[in-house]
Amino acid sequence: MLNLIKLANNNFLSSLDTSREEVIYLLELAKKMKDGEMQHIELKNKVLGLIFDKSSTRTRVSFQVAMSRLGGTTIDLNPTTSQIGRGEPIKDTARVLSRYCDALAIRTFNHSDLEEYAKWSTKPVINALTDLEHPCQALADFLTIHEEFSSFKNVVLTFIGDGNNVANSLILCGSLLGVELRIACPKGYEPSPLVIEKAMELNNNSHNLLKIMNDPQEAASGASVIYTDVWSSMGEEHNKESKDKSFDGFTVDENLLSKTNKGSIVLHCLPAYRGQEITDEIFESEKNRIFEQAENRLHVQQALLACLIN
Ligand code: CP
Repeated sequence: MLNLIKLANNNFLSSLDTSREEVIYLLELAKKMKDGEMQHIELKNKVLGLIFDKSSTRTRVSFQVAMSRLGGTTIDLNPTTSQIGRGEPIKDTARVLSRYCDALAIRTFNHSDLEEYAKWSTKPVINALTDLEHPCQALADFLTIHEEFSSFKNVVLTFIGDGNNVANSLILCGSLLGVELRIACPKGYEPSPLVIEKAMELNNNSHNLLKIMNDPQEAASGASVIYTDVWSSMGEEHNKESKDKSFDGFTVDENLLSKTNKGSIVLHCLPAYRGQEITDEIFESEKNRIFEQAENRLHVQQALLACLIN
């Protein structure tokens, strides 16, 4: 049994809003919740507001189910049917909603808009994905990795694809946990320089823990985990055809998997474009832990909500 703690930060906008100890605690709590061991934790009568400026299946539904399992509820604040879509200032929306809701989970484009919500909200704000970070996803990813290997020691996590929000949060959360990370992307598609700088600070400037590479074969060599995501994120559809051409050679396929360690696993945060960033054969192979990873969104968010709204 674990005692419930309150996180030091009121918000979860970035993977760096938690300390290393808090991430380890959240993963442990999530695992216990998954195993049905923490059923006394309740958020009865608490309400989570969901503001999603972009489509979502996993994030939206896992937050809704997490609140339901904790005895609370969610309100889906669709921007097109609320005044958000009309352009009501974020600072007004945040001040109003935080008088009704006990926390807000927000998916939007600009990370600065999320920070603006957090600045004006008196209740916790959770990043449900921005162009910069996807920290809830990273928590689920590291829970999945820990379940597989029982430790982060000797794990080599290789992300193949665009240096996007998912890559940024893997870098930050992985650096907190001391996991060896390799990010393989075409030149020009590297993760945020600011994120790399922060991770290097956490790693005491050790280039052994974080490597940004342009050769996917080299990055896959000896890896324990191969992780990929779509090459063009939501909002980049207009540029997809030309962007996809830059990723020639970055498809996760059998040849790439043959370079990895025996016992390696494959992750994808979903949704996937089979035949682009990953072949159907590898997606459906016995190495896939993609649906365990998707399930773990629910458990880590349940743990996060319990620690933020109490
Ligand atoms: N991985 C993820 O965030 O999925 P959704 O876009 O469906 O929420």
